[in-house]
Amino acid sequence: MRSSIRQQATRREFLQLVGGSTAALTLGDLGIAHAANLLAPDSVTDYALTAAPTRVSLGSRNVSTIGFNESLPGPLLRTTEGDRLHVDVNNNLSTSTTIHWHGIPIVNKMDGVPGLTQSPIRSGSTFTYDFKVPVSGTYWYHSHSSAQLDRGMYGPLIVDPKREPLSYDREVVLVLDDWRDGIGKRSHALLSLYECQTGFERHTAEAGRPPVEPASFPYHLINGKAAQNPTQISVNRGEVVRFRIINAGSATVYRVALAGHRMRVTHADGQPVAPVDVDALDIGMAERYDVLVHANHPGVWQLAAQPSARGPLARAIVRYNGSSGAAPPAHFKPKQLKGKVLKYGMLRTSGGYGIPSGKPDMTMYVSLRSRFGAFYMTFNGRVLPVDQPLHIPRNTHVRFIITNASGQIHPMHLHGHFFQLANGTGNGPMKDTVNVNPSQSFTVDWIANNPGKWVFHCHNLYHMLNGLMNVISIT
Ligand code: C2O
Ligand code: CU
Repeated sequence: MRSSIRQQATRREFLQLVGGSTAALTLGDLGIAHAANLLAPDSVTDYALTAAPTRVSLGSRNVSTIGFNESLPGPLLRTTEGDRLHVDVNNNLSTSTTIHWHGIPIVNKMDGVPGLTQSPIRSGSTFTYDFKVPVSGTYWYHSHSSAQLDRGMYGPLIVDPKREPLSYDREVVLVLDDWRDGIGKRSHALLSLYECQTGFERHTAEAGRPPVEPASFPYHLINGKAAQNPTQISVNRGEVVRFRIINAGSATVYRVALAGHRMRVTHADGQPVAPVDVDALDIGMAERYDVLVHANHPGVWQLAAQPSARGPLARAIVRYNGSSGAAPPAHFKPKQLKGKVLKYGMLRTSGGYGIPSGKPDMTMYVSLRSRFGAFYMTFNGRVLPVDQPLHIPRNTHVRFIITNASGQIHPMHLHGHFFQLANGTGNGPMKDTVNVNPSQSFTVDWIANNPGKWVFHCHNLYHMLNGLMNVISIT
């Protein structure tokens, strides 16, 4: 993996900036301050990701899967707000892939939806993602092809602000995942079934039946490790620790808590919120929360992520340097899981990205429905086939009133934009994913200011593959 920063201001770009002729212009002609802006090169962060079959140790057993750079999760990609990310993706899988940069308001052709924003990256070929990253925060990247997300095809993406407003001593990224790949013949076959297709391609290509949502997962992982052999986090007494929590699971909502400690939530989906102190938080698929923990309670503590469905805990161990006690047992449930749990109603934005204000230009009632194991949504009562986009003129202030009329949980994600969640505070959080429980209804407002074709879909991978996805075309 390369991770060098290179400065990129080629002679060609320089010539374009100053109008084609370097000879005629000096910095003085442009005005120094102006020139400094014009000529400030984009900083570019370079990475290479290789998608390939790999083996993963789950403690008691090794399984084969597919992933990035032979690591699970894929490598941490990190850049700074305003910089460009340049990622060469080599596809050494036997099938096609693409990568989606979840939550980044990205230029459309880099969004990674095969058959919609790009052609699939074929086996044996390379594709370069190159885009400006306009926001800071905790994000992640994942395959948007077939059921690859439910294998090992995901990793964290952290964007540092130009100036970090929080103060903390240590940062820990926690990537949660529900795991079944490589366990038993049946699960593997199901996951491969859709190897070459996305939900989007499936609808247009009329392919066979997609995999159904698993009833449970045999493993729940934090940073690729099962509870039997957990991630170990060392802290010093007195430190403030920033945890960046990412739910990369395909079909599991987790409740996260750290025994012996409270958490101060500072960001939701990468965007800042007014700090709120809780004992536990629920995190839906694809959501992220940043929390600060004051390490003022020495010991050896369970950091637990309890799946909402059946199945064992995911966990990591937080050990204070100097504390030599034994780790708690794998199944140990911190009492904080039953304490004060974060609710959307407690979150208020504190200066996020592009906050809508005023009355919407367009209001859409979006109803999430299921029928005989398949899913669909309606817009103002109408079903739109996935290849028939919902058209929205650029810069429209859109209001979606999303109602879950099905019996399942649907974390709904909009590509390319943040939305503001109405939560009764008048100042709800900016998010890119909202977890809608059965019978729940949420209002989200957003500005359709990013032209292109964007998917709006449930981030339960199996619901997406079974139809809970539509396309929004902004022109
Ligand atoms: Cu993580 Cu289409 O999304
Ligand atoms: Cu769903």
